[in-house]
Amino acid sequence: MKILGIETSCDETSAAVVEKKDKKVFIKSNVTASSLAFHAKTGGIIPETAAREQVRYIIPVVIEALIGKGDNLTQEEKFIKANEVLKKEIDAVAVTVGPGLIGSLLVGVETAKVFSYTLNKPLIPVNHLLGHIYANFVTNSKLKTQNSKLSETLNFPFIGLIVSGGHTDLLLFKSHTNCKWLGGTRDDAAGEAMDKLARILGLPYPGGPEIEKRAKSGKKGVYNFKSPMLDSFDFDFSFSGLKTQVPRELKNIDKLSEQQINDVCFAVQKAIVDVLVKKTVGAAKEHNCSTIVIGGGVSANQTLRNQMSLSARRYLLDDKVYYPQLEYCSDNAAMIGTYALFNYNPKPWNKVSAKPELYFS
Ligand code: KG4
Ligand code: ZN
Repeated sequence: MKILGIETSCDETSAAVVEKKDKKVFIKSNVTASSLAFHAKTGGIIPETAAREQVRYIIPVVIEALIGKGDNLTQEEKFIKANEVLKKEIDAVAVTVGPGLIGSLLVGVETAKVFSYTLNKPLIPVNHLLGHIYANFVTNSKLKTQNSKLSETLNFPFIGLIVSGGHTDLLLFKSHTNCKWLGGTRDDAAGEAMDKLARILGLPYPGGPEIEKRAKSGKKGVYNFKSPMLDSFDFDFSFSGLKTQVPRELKNIDKLSEQQINDVCFAVQKAIVDVLVKKTVGAAKEHNCSTIVIGGGVSANQTLRNQMSLSARRYLLDDKVYYPQLEYCSDNAAMIGTYALFNYNPKPWNKVSAKPELYFS
């Protein structure tokens, strides 16, 4: 089974061809164009700009995913060749239907619907958030990592932690088709909190990677921010309080030195990572799971990965913590196609629509 995956929920335009053979997933191509550079200029995502950039990139990205760069072909020849591949080699199309920005989602969803209608291909609508977890099911023979065999060895049940720019959610996965939401953020997502705090500190967008980089040179204990909801007896999170805690702590300093910024970044990252680790490992204990699977942009964070593994070893007596290869942490179409390979549930094209508020059902 070969699927064309399409992802356009926010500022990335991505298309991928994924294939399942002998229970293994292979990524034949994964092409992503990002309008991040535009948003870095304004310090955050402007939905209208993101949607316009989606329109600009969607066809070139799909064509490249289907036939490669095709350097010596004209535009016309590329188009014809891609159409042939889509018609003859692709069995189905999977597309992110939500959650996300309506303008961005519409571009991917309507493109996928046209392919489904005109070429009579089954269409699988995919929840973007579940896609982030399935980034861990990718088997890529080119990139051997600790997780590259996950799709062969993963046993249910497992606890899934989705940590992205828009969401922070804990889920119990009992099987591919049975997953239960355990808790999530009550306000800002973990990535969103890092983006906003980076802005307060005068650091570029997106804030997560910048905070991680700075935190490496930060000193422990210079600043201490309280992990929001660290001790609450549930699986919920709250990160918006950090936006007031940090400026309050720094209000008497005229201009932060580079070292002070690094020290603040260390403390911010610690506050966020501590609560993510405690609640995720706590959920695994409560639900008798020895496996934890993390996905989303923030899962690229090395401190989160290390702390989660350490804590799993300590409290679950095993280090079965999985995170995606770095290229599949942020938004990409390979994870959308991979989800569809494991959850093949096509819908008629005229019943599929963009759902910006989609959550878990
Ligand atoms: O999953 P993603 O690409 O997009 C959404 O679906 O939201 O996540 C983007 C988020 C941003 O908030 C970004 O700051 C954060 O992921 N992020 C990180 C790191 N890399 C990206 N946060 C912490 N550490 C990182 N290394
Ligand atoms: Zn995402």
